[in-house]
Amino acid sequence: MFFDAGHKDRLRPPERKSNNMAGKHCTKRNSRQGPELVLAIESSCDETAAAVLKNGTCLLSNIVASQIDIHRQYGGIVPELASRHHLKDIYRVVEKALSDASLEISSIDAIAVTQGPGLVGSLVVGLSFAKAIALARGIPFTGVNHLHAHLCSAFLQDRRPEFPFIGLVVSGGHTSIYLVRDMLSAKLLGRTRDDAAGEAFDKVAKILGLDYPGGPVISRLAASGDPDAFSYPRAILPDTPLDFSFSGLKTSVLTSVKRMTGDGKLPVPDICASFQEAVVDVLVKKTITAAREHGIHEIVVTGGVAANPRLRQKLTETAENIGYSSYFPDPELCTDNAAMIAKAGYHQLKAGIEAGDDADVYSRIQPGCKTAL
Ligand code: KG4
Ligand code: ZN
Repeated sequence: MFFDAGHKDRLRPPERKSNNMAGKHCTKRNSRQGPELVLAIESSCDETAAAVLKNGTCLLSNIVASQIDIHRQYGGIVPELASRHHLKDIYRVVEKALSDASLEISSIDAIAVTQGPGLVGSLVVGLSFAKAIALARGIPFTGVNHLHAHLCSAFLQDRRPEFPFIGLVVSGGHTSIYLVRDMLSAKLLGRTRDDAAGEAFDKVAKILGLDYPGGPVISRLAASGDPDAFSYPRAILPDTPLDFSFSGLKTSVLTSVKRMTGDGKLPVPDICASFQEAVVDVLVKKTITAAREHGIHEIVVTGGVAANPRLRQKLTETAENIGYSSYFPDPELCTDNAAMIAKAGYHQLKAGIEAGDDADVYSRIQPGCKTAL
């Protein structure tokens, strides 16, 4: 864990300012400038995170409390435990984000919070906490789409993409390609039909008896394996060529492991390298195809799997060879964090997009919502 729990009075109830949040989930506010200090909260999955962003660009703090040690013993995320741990951790995570930024809650101008998609119980903890602060302090808050935020994480780096760009969000829950035109709008071009790429890493790790989450372990073992040792399938899907499917690949790994069990020691590094290469091949091929089809030379890759060194290397090389530019956030900004929520939220607030006091969470992507991709 990360925190010392000083500054207990940072969240003390203040006197109430006038409140402009009554009404619908997404209301517009006339504001040309974005808020100076945004406090962001993320709790969609198994990380409780908070961050403070100044003037939309300067990250003053970025705190992540991971629950990996809790879920590891079950080999995956247990939603009820996730919610309960968010509830335990959120106060101290927010306290720590404020103290690292040398701020009191009274200095914060607006709140950004993940509204969905994600685990409902987990999202409810973050949204309720954010809503309570915003209502108590009379400051605006905005509900951020977690996937939109992953794409926005590319703008927390010194080297930033230009619009429009092709964005691949590849994580434990999602594998989707977007055409991103500006900070607030993106068009879905393709997505997974079954498992997400990160989920495939996690499931293959389980098959091999490796630790959770599978991505980091598999990529570490793959470094000493032969990517050509096994020829695992790459799902092409001719009818919807920008969609993904990873469940056949996972089954193929399971079948090959069952076949080899009993032959002595499993060639785990070779299996990891061959599996990883199959995932990376498909991710790179489809992302480059999307870029070519739309005549766009800027590519952003983000989400937990974007921390994978082989994916970073292969996509960068492939893009460079055809004169395209690729952008990967630093690995700690690829996995779930609140800095990306702050960045997305800042732009929403600047555009006047605020949540109302009746704001609710959503577990899946909601078509038609302005802030949902
Ligand atoms: O974005 P993220 O932190 O949470 C979700 O929104 O899902 O992504 C977590 C996923 C996990 O499935 C994990 O196995 C995967 O990202 N991951 C990786 C690597 N690091 C994390 N997958 C492949 N290689 C990695 N180095
Ligand atoms: Zn995520």
